[in-house]
This record gives sequence, structure tokens and C-alpha cells, in this order.
Amino acid sequence: MKSLQFVFAIVLTLAAHAAVAESLPEVLMYKDPNCGCCGAWAERLEAAGFRVKTVEAADMQAVKRRFGVPERLASCHTAKVGNYVIEGHVPPATIKRLLHEKPAVTGLSAPGMPAGAPGMETPGRKDPYDVVSFDGAGRSRVFERFR
Ligand code: CU
Ligand code: CU
Repeated sequence: MKSLQFVFAIVLTLAAHAAVAESLPEVLMYKDPNCGCCGAWAERLEAAGFRVKTVEAADMQAVKRRFGVPERLASCHTAKVGNYVIEGHVPPATIKRLLHEKPAVTGLSAPGMPAGAPGMETPGRKDPYDVVSFDGAGRSRVFERFR
């Protein structure tokens, strides 16, 4: 009887994990074919349970303009996650927080290429950086600080 309970507990745990993975929207990542750190970021997202689809785009400036990423907040890759735009090396946990809190913003950005951010791991270096949210009116504010 004990072992049956044990099996039942495992089945429940697996079902719970499957439900979490299913509830995460697919990440559609646009990247320059010549950039490598974007692929590393996608791997961090996949490790956190996201499914990532990659689209190679030669003109990333145009993609950013189309998705409403302010020029001053630009990084390398640009992704669509649900109704949100994710610019650059935003940590997967921060994307999950965004999806959970659902603020009325266009998306999040980790501007530039901060060393130590997911996909930008650099031995012996961890730059402080902010993830900021931005909206269609050009407003931006700090969403999460990494120090
Ligand atoms: Cu990058
Ligand atoms: Cu990149």
C-alpha cells in the first residue's frame, strides 16, 4: 500500500511539472545570425522550462523598431513571449515574474550586454545591471535590479 502511495506521489509531481511547462508561453527569439550570446541566453531559458524558437534576422534594428523597443534600451536579441517583448539578456526568473504580475507594459529590457547576465557569463566578472520595463509611450522604469 505504501509503495502505491509513493507511485501516486511521483505521478502527481510529474503532472505538476508538466502543467508548469505547459503554462509558459513559447519564446520566439529574433537574433542576428552572427551573434552567439543569444543562443546561450536561449539555453538558460530552456533550462528554466521555456520552449524557445529562433528566427534569424539580418536586420535586428528593424525587428526592434517593429516591436517598439526604444533605441536607448537596445541589446542583441529581441524576443516575443506571450504579448510581451523581451530585449536582451533578461533572466528567465524575471520573465516568469512578468508573466505572473502582468503589468501594462510593452516588455522588459536588459540594455546593453551586461557581463554575468544569463547567456553573458564571464569568468571573474559580474556587472551590476537593471532590467527595465518600457511602454508604447517611451516610458521606462526599473523592474528588477541585479547587483
Ligand atoms: Cu547578447
Ligand atoms: Cu547575442
